[in-house]
Amino acid sequence: MDGIRIISTGKALPERKVPNAKMSSYVETSDEWISSRTGIKARYFSEKETSLSLSADAARQALERAGLSSEKIDLCIVATITPDYATPSVSCLLQKELGLREDIPCFDINAACSGFVYALHVAAHMMNGTGSRHALVIGCEQLSRILDLKDRSTCVLFGDGAGACVAERAPGIGICGVLGAQGDRDALHCCGQGRKDPFIRMDGRAVFRFAVTKLEETLRELERCSGVPLEKVDYFACHQANERILRHVQRKMKIPEKKMVTCIADYGNTSGASIPILLDEMACRGLLKKGTKVFAAGFGGGLTYAGIYLEMDRDLPGAEGKETS
Ligand code: ACO
Repeated sequence: MDGIRIISTGKALPERKVPNAKMSSYVETSDEWISSRTGIKARYFSEKETSLSLSADAARQALERAGLSSEKIDLCIVATITPDYATPSVSCLLQKELGLREDIPCFDINAACSGFVYALHVAAHMMNGTGSRHALVIGCEQLSRILDLKDRSTCVLFGDGAGACVAERAPGIGICGVLGAQGDRDALHCCGQGRKDPFIRMDGRAVFRFAVTKLEETLRELERCSGVPLEKVDYFACHQANERILRHVQRKMKIPEKKMVTCIADYGNTSGASIPILLDEMACRGLLKKGTKVFAAGFGGGLTYAGIYLEMDRDLPGAEGKETS
């Protein structure tokens, strides 16, 4: 079976940036509490943007960087828990917006913060099944729409944004990864619009325990199935839920600090969008070069978890003209 490679990335954020100080106008909190408990300094909240507009902007950037026109896309998957409508899906709206071909599958998936990695696996298997070549895989969220701005235990954590990638079927490398779920409503749930309580509710400590356990297990499983030992992995691109979760796992697994890449300070937790936004940040920082080995791992609502091994076969575009590290 052929594997999957990412050949370009893109991202889009709402115009309105909300620093921690602004959150204390909604709830009793402080920059000190938020940044020391989570690593978050700011997030973006949508005003006029939609899940479609954010997805389209991120996708256009990824397509342009791949040097591909929209007719070359054979599959479009959007990972989201905050679509604009129950139907049509964001991916169908995007098909029209971008002028994608009619003879291709377009659908959304809901696996919360693991959604983008789930979508990469689905894309890889579908491209094998159909023999097609290019997939547009997007993570997009407008979590500000389901935040209770009176609940300080959740509203300071989340933000909006979209990340996109163009992925290519990669003969000869195989698909290596982990997908799983522990069905659970109590640790994290959101009933959604039109319900008595439409907001996201979370038992932070239960999610924390799940996250540190499953993230470590997922990275160990990626090590086993890829045959790439942890010390040979260049970067770990993990769901940006909380800097303390990432640092806990990084230290426990003796991973060097700079290999556990983070961008939570600038964006907060963007759920399904967090890993593709992080991959785009990494491309823009010049970290994704030919031969770079990445373990990507997500965990979150469901409760779900997912991991995938990614190896770059080229320097990913995005860092041109910028100083790289
Ligand atoms: N500002 C100030 N004080 C606060 C805030 C806030 N924003 N939120 C909670 N507190 C208070 C609480 O009321 C409590 O006060 P008390 O001791 O007087 O009762 C105190 O801070 C400690 O609260 P805890 O909930 O125990 O704080 P904790 O150290 O566990 O941190 C946090 C909370 C950050 C949510 C942590 O549990 C966590 O990160 N959990 C994982 C959450 C996560 O990763 N979620 C996303 C994954 S799933 C997904 O991405 C969709």
